[in-house]
Amino acid sequence: MHFYILTLFPDMVMNGLTDSIIGRAMKNGYLKIEAVNIRDYAFNKHQSVDDYPYGGGAGMLMQAEPVYQAYSAVLEKIKSENPEAQPRVVYLSPQGGTFSQEMAEDYAKEEDVILLCGHYEGIDERVLEEIVTDYVSIGDYVLTGGELPAMVMIDTISRLIPGVLHNDVSAEFDSFQDNLLEYPQYSRPEEWHGKKVPEVLMSGHHANIEKWRHEQSLIRTAKNRPDLLEKAELTENDKKVLET
Ligand code: ADE
Repeated sequence: MHFYILTLFPDMVMNGLTDSIIGRAMKNGYLKIEAVNIRDYAFNKHQSVDDYPYGGGAGMLMQAEPVYQAYSAVLEKIKSENPEAQPRVVYLSPQGGTFSQEMAEDYAKEEDVILLCGHYEGIDERVLEEIVTDYVSIGDYVLTGGELPAMVMIDTISRLIPGVLHNDVSAEFDSFQDNLLEYPQYSRPEEWHGKKVPEVLMSGHHANIEKWRHEQSLIRTAKNRPDLLEKAELTENDKKVLET
């Protein structure tokens, strides 16, 4: 999978993603992440990319042309490898639909994704109309730019790509995969600050362990995210656990 990020702050994105699991996945060839500096496509000698909004109002807007040129360069590159490609172009904005695990699973099927990061008060509407296919928000709050949201999307999508996590099973059993939160986990020592690891986890009885973990997931979800339970497929036994 290949992510292209159109941004005024390429270092911010690359520095934030090249460590840890995502960095390793890039080195091992499961993932490509390329930040394209929109300023490189500025069309005046001052390399400015922003201007005042028509009609007045606070702040500056990113102009259409540099964004369009940066996008066109990326699209040309993608098409040179696959002339049929029609990559999704995501504009990160609080006005988009809220990003979810389900959306991440959908994006993980794509070959190429272009992420457009806005700054200042936003981007000239005309270029958005022309190139953007998806508007995505990461939550109901306003950040200073789209870079952190782009990184959130890339991180979430990347860990679903086979090979990125060493242990493919762990993505499968994550929180949200079945609208239930993850069960609690414990490692050595057996006792810490007077708290013991639950007996069942030391029993070696796999069926009992699985049953306990599932029940813990149910209880946790009911306590912390009751809204998710409405979407979960609950068995009769699950309902009984939740009643007690
Ligand atoms: N840009 C600014 N705030 C944002 C948000 N909440 N989600 C996506 N992009 C943004």
